[in-house]
Formats: sequence, C-alpha cells, structure tokens
Amino acid sequence: MGSDSSTPRPCTGGQRPSSAALWDHGGEEAIVGTKVWTYGLAGEQAVFEGRFQFEAQLAHYGGFIDVMQVHNLAAYQDHLPWLEEERNAGRIGWIGGTHYRTDALTALVPLMDAGRLDVIGVPYNPLEAEAADMILPLAEEQDIGVIAMRPFAEGELLPGPDIKRLDGLGVETWAEALLKWTLSDGRIHVVIPATRQEPHLLANVQAAQPPRFDPDQRAFVGRLAAKYAGASGVG
Ligand SMILES: NC(=O)c1ccc[n+]([C@@H]2O[C@H](COP(=O)([O-])OP(=O)(O)OC[C@H]3O[C@@H](n4cnc5c(N)ncnc54)[C@H](OP(=O)(O)O)[C@@H]3O)[C@@H](O)[C@H]2O)c1
Repeated sequence: MGSDSSTPRPCTGGQRPSSAALWDHGGEEAIVGTKVWTYGLAGEQAVFEGRFQFEAQLAHYGGFIDVMQVHNLAAYQDHLPWLEEERNAGRIGWIGGTHYRTDALTALVPLMDAGRLDVIGVPYNPLEAEAADMILPLAEEQDIGVIAMRPFAEGELLPGPDIKRLDGLGVETWAEALLKWTLSDGRIHVVIPATRQEPHLLANVQAAQPPRFDPDQRAFVGRLAAKYAGASGVG
C-alpha cells in the first residue's frame, strides 16, 4: 500500500465514519480500512455475521473496500476464504489481519507465511514496540503492508512533555512527535490515531508529512515517551 497517511478509525457495519471531516479535506484520496468483527462466533454463524457487516460497509463506501481486516483474527479460518473470493471479485483491495495484544502477534506469522494476508495491523508506539522485532522483519521481507495502531497507547502517552523539550525535532506538538516516531520506522505504511476532535484529525493528517526523524531523534522521542507516559505534561 505504501501510503504514509493517517486514516479514519475503522468502522463496523452501518456506522458513519467518526471522521466525517476527513471527507471535506481530500477524503476522496483516503484509503478506506475497516474490519469484520465476529467475536464469539464460529463456522456458518461467523460467516453470516461477517458478510452482513461487509455488505453494510460496501453500501456505505460505494461498493469497494480498500482494506478489509479480520479484527483480532477472530474466526479467521471462516472469514479468509470468502474474503479471498471478494478480493478476486474486485470488491476488496487488500485483506488484513489485526491483533491488539502484543503477546498474540505471533498468531499473524503463519498467515503471513502462507500468503493469506496483504496487510497486518499491529500496536506500535514507544511503549508497545514489540512488533519491531517480532513481526516487522517478516512483513518487510514479504512486502506486507503494515498499519500501526494505538500510536498514543490509547492516550497513555499523552499529554507528554512540555513543547520546549521538543526543540530541534521540527514538530509543534507531542502528538506529532509520536506519530512521526511511528512513521519513521520505514516498515510502517500507515498510522491510525483515533480522535473525536476535528482539529486533532487535521493535525494528525499533517503529521504524516515528511521529513521523518533520523535515528537519534527517534531514540530521543522514545526516551521522552518512557519518561512522560501518563505524566501531567509539565516539565
Ligand atoms: N485489534 C484492533 O484492530 C485494534 C486494537 C486497538 C486499536 N485499534 C485501532 O487503532 C486506532 C487507534 O487506537 P486507540 O483508539 O487505542 O488509541 P490512540 O490513537 O493511541 O489514542 C487515542 C487518544 O489520543 C487522543 N488524540 C488523538 N489525536 C490527538 C492529538 N492530535 N492531540 C492530542 N490527543 C490526541 C484521542 O483523544 P481526542 O479524541 O480528544 O482527540 C484519544 O484519547 C483506532 O483506529 C482503533 O480502531 C485496533
């Protein structure tokens, strides 16, 4: 996929995108990434529910989904065959698999090895960087797209240090520094911060603009993140 941009939070069947503002600011160029989420279901029930979600999403997004993911790999054995049929039929661009738990990332490996996933979604921020060694080398080797989730550790990394600590990084906010930290790993293609605020949405899209951090800048941000995680933001 190769796009370094922020994308809207994935939506499930029938919901409006949480980021309607994106469509007013170049949304026609956005990559639509969403998911099937059938926790607790298996077999025909999982497929029925997954297809129901997919059809609602297709109707909402105009008949094509760029990235269709199996959320947390739930019932992936049931979903991958019909998702592959849909990809062959041209209604899906890429098939993805996600997992939110860093200790479960290895579950993605056999599916990547078998060529079943075009894209993976993994947590990736300075506090949750296990993917760097566990999964990103394989993704790079196999040319698999990588979506970085939870760039702010669901807010745990915010508000972060005072802006004065960011001198020399070429950023205006700590949130921007964290997004650049993620995107400065060349194996990451897209980062998906979640926000309910239009100004944050627009700032997050802006943060995807080059330049990236060099290794020293990235390491500095990593150290700051470790120091200020969950702190008051003063200092
Ligand atoms: N298994 C999975 O597939 C899985 C698991 C986890 C997460 N995800 C996905 O990953 C994405 C992000 O993960 P997440 O929801 O855990 O959290 P996150 O993006 O790490 O953090 C969200 C928090 O950051 C704040 N924020 C966003 N932009 C900001 C900015 N520019 N300045 C200051 N604060 C900002 C938001 O508050 P405001 O609303 O106030 O901006 C919100 O409190 C979501 O799209 C989610 O669907 C997927």
